[in-house]
Amino acid sequence: MPRSAWGITSVSIKVLAVFGTRPEAIKLFPVIDALRAEPGVDCRVCVTAQHRGMLDQILKLSGIVPDHDLDIMVPGQTLDLLTAALLVRLGDVFDIEKPDRVIVQGDTATAMVGALAAYYRKIPVSHVEAGLRSGDIHHPWPEEVNRKIIATMADQHFAPTATAADALRREGVPEGTIFETGNTVIDALLATRARLLADPTMCSGIDAVIDRFGAKRIIAVTTHRRENFDAMRGMAGAIGRIAARGDVGIVFPVHPNPNVRAAMADALPSSDAIALIEPLDYPDFVRLLDRSTLVLTDSGGVQEEAPTFGKPVLVMRETTERPEGITAGTAKLVGTDPARIVSEATKLLDDNKAYDAMSRAHSPFGDGHAATRISRIIANGG
Ligand code: UD1
Ligand code: UDP
Repeated sequence: MPRSAWGITSVSIKVLAVFGTRPEAIKLFPVIDALRAEPGVDCRVCVTAQHRGMLDQILKLSGIVPDHDLDIMVPGQTLDLLTAALLVRLGDVFDIEKPDRVIVQGDTATAMVGALAAYYRKIPVSHVEAGLRSGDIHHPWPEEVNRKIIATMADQHFAPTATAADALRREGVPEGTIFETGNTVIDALLATRARLLADPTMCSGIDAVIDRFGAKRIIAVTTHRRENFDAMRGMAGAIGRIAARGDVGIVFPVHPNPNVRAAMADALPSSDAIALIEPLDYPDFVRLLDRSTLVLTDSGGVQEEAPTFGKPVLVMRETTERPEGITAGTAKLVGTDPARIVSEATKLLDDNKAYDAMSRAHSPFGDGHAATRISRIIANGG
């Protein structure tokens, strides 16, 4: 905390960043770094640890030491228990910290409840990655509604794209509170790629996994969405059929959610062409993206990252609140029907023209400077 010659603190605003899951941590660490570089801001950090292992690897990477760690995760947690526990525990922290502003990111239970606990105390809320809408409250579930709830309480809405800013305007969010900043995931991605270039030893083993496949083309796969649990066995079957081509190596870091693991254990055929691995540390995942030919995912963040590296993404969801990649032609919404997943992947692997049309490096989600824009606005009070 900077002090003047008379020992008087010059900090004019105390903010509390709240996050709990892997994607929030990835997307907020650049913002926390930028806020901590602002002379007039005291940035405190509360992690709920809605995720434990996947959160901790990002804390280690970013060097962020939380001021509060609620350690809230229990295996297979229900939304009810998670939401209730978050509200009580976050409220306690807010009462101790008494921040001038709370910062939440995205659409998770932690983000929604963090905004609610702040609202209950009349603490202003900044929402990073505001305005994403699929228009369907069941896809993504429960995230579409979480984002809408946060929008009703926040007074600073950091929209990553023009599409997201427009969605907020259509809902009547006041113009002066909407800021189009880019998505901070691109800041995290580019910073991590640059660190990797300078120090390749940051990776812990992904090259060995990929090198096992020799000259075969690499397909990176992730799945975890709650609304896809019923479809996940079919998705596993589709991945198995793609692997059976013989000319690809599938690298699949499996999300620790027990529902995802059960579906994969039941329905993913055992195959030398599939490397089923634990969730990768972020630098390793960035390296995997960089070395992949194709990405199959239902993840939000991965949809945003892959186009920056020119990697075509097949989005295994029925709708997306991130249409920008699809409009740009670098991502395709293929749903969860196994036959469609196989046929779309086959087309990209067998038809160079179709592949080239999607593989243009393009970054519709940001330029890598979103965090600085956000920190400036917060430091200047909007
Ligand atoms: C949560 C978010 C979702 C986000 C996703 C990112 C909500 C409602 N959902 O979903 O928006 O896209 O995170 O991954 O907030 N687990 C571990 N270790 C970990 C993380 C999770 O074992 O490091 C297991 C636990 O059994 C946990 C389960 O995964 O109970 C589910 O975690 P949870 O945060 O409830 O939901 P996600 O499906 O991960
Ligand atoms: N990611 C990672 N390791 C992995 C898989 C993904 O670090 O094994 C990163 C990925 O680069 C992206 C983020 O996790 O930044 C996405 O998280 P997730 O898919 O869990 O959540 P979503 O973005 O769908 O909310």
